[in-house]
Amino acid sequence: MRLADKVAVITGTGSGMGRAMANLFAAEGAKIVAAEWNATALAEVVAEVTAAGGAITGVAGDVSNRDDDRRIIQTAIDTYGRIDILVNNAGIMDNMAAAGDFDEATLAKVMAVNAFGPLYLINAAIPHFLAQGKGTIVNTASLAGVGGGAAGVVYTMSKHANVGLTKNTAWAYAKSGIRCNAMAVGGVNTGIMANTAGKVAAFDPQSLGVGRAMAYAGLAPGFGEPIDIANLALYLASDESRFVNGAIVHIDAGWSAA
Ligand SMILES: NC(=O)c1ccc[n+]([C@@H]2O[C@H](COP(=O)([O-])OP(=O)(O)OC[C@H]3O[C@@H](n4cnc5c(N)ncnc54)[C@H](O)[C@@H]3O)[C@@H](O)[C@H]2O)c1
Repeated sequence: MRLADKVAVITGTGSGMGRAMANLFAAEGAKIVAAEWNATALAEVVAEVTAAGGAITGVAGDVSNRDDDRRIIQTAIDTYGRIDILVNNAGIMDNMAAAGDFDEATLAKVMAVNAFGPLYLINAAIPHFLAQGKGTIVNTASLAGVGGGAAGVVYTMSKHANVGLTKNTAWAYAKSGIRCNAMAVGGVNTGIMANTAGKVAAFDPQSLGVGRAMAYAGLAPGFGEPIDIANLALYLASDESRFVNGAIVHIDAGWSAA
């Protein structure tokens, strides 16, 4: 039980990596607060974890909404009396557009979900971490947070922001018992393309950005599964990684080594 007695808030738990994390963390003894804006998917993961004997509370909410974020963190306090772990995992893709083609609605949406949401949630969790003298944050960043080839300009900006958020938070609270790390994730088989459809502008297969992103995708040695990422998140969330802070851990089968 690597997370015995810990309380973990995980966002984006309805699908992909977040769902794998909810199941794995619960199996390792954590009590889960699962945050998700898709109510149907949320109900599924709550049922799944409960059926396996885990402790989980679902919160329907949009991480880009600051009031929802306060409510998500407060749910951990109200339900389990504390919060030990925050995993900022919820995210959406962009439409792979380059700077010459971006649209403002996609920019606003993707930045709000991928960059501002994690900041709001960290802000809401910090007072509890400080009061306890301990807490750990794991952000699901991307190779698009450390390089320029993996997505469109908007998603790339949002994940670079996520990396900056990780490093600043790690440094600022390094003497306060709070750790903050990020995973620079490569290609993983999840529902992200389908889950993003309709939320941002449509792909234009003829666009420069799509062509350049596909050229980079061709270099990927392979795709991972959600459990591969959940296993790293488990390590970063647990006390086993107590000396790891401000790290951007690449998990990509070697893609970024190219
Ligand atoms: N799949 C990949 O190849 C890949 C690569 C690098 C990074 N990532 C990142 O990994 C994270 C998880 O993505 P995934 O691939 O598992 O995708 P996914 O779509 O399978 O799962 C993400 C979940 O988050 C939820 N969600 C999205 N926006 C939300 C919001 N504003 N509020 C609440 N819930 C929200 C979705 O409904 C979905 O259930 C994301 O941050 C994504 O950017 C994915």
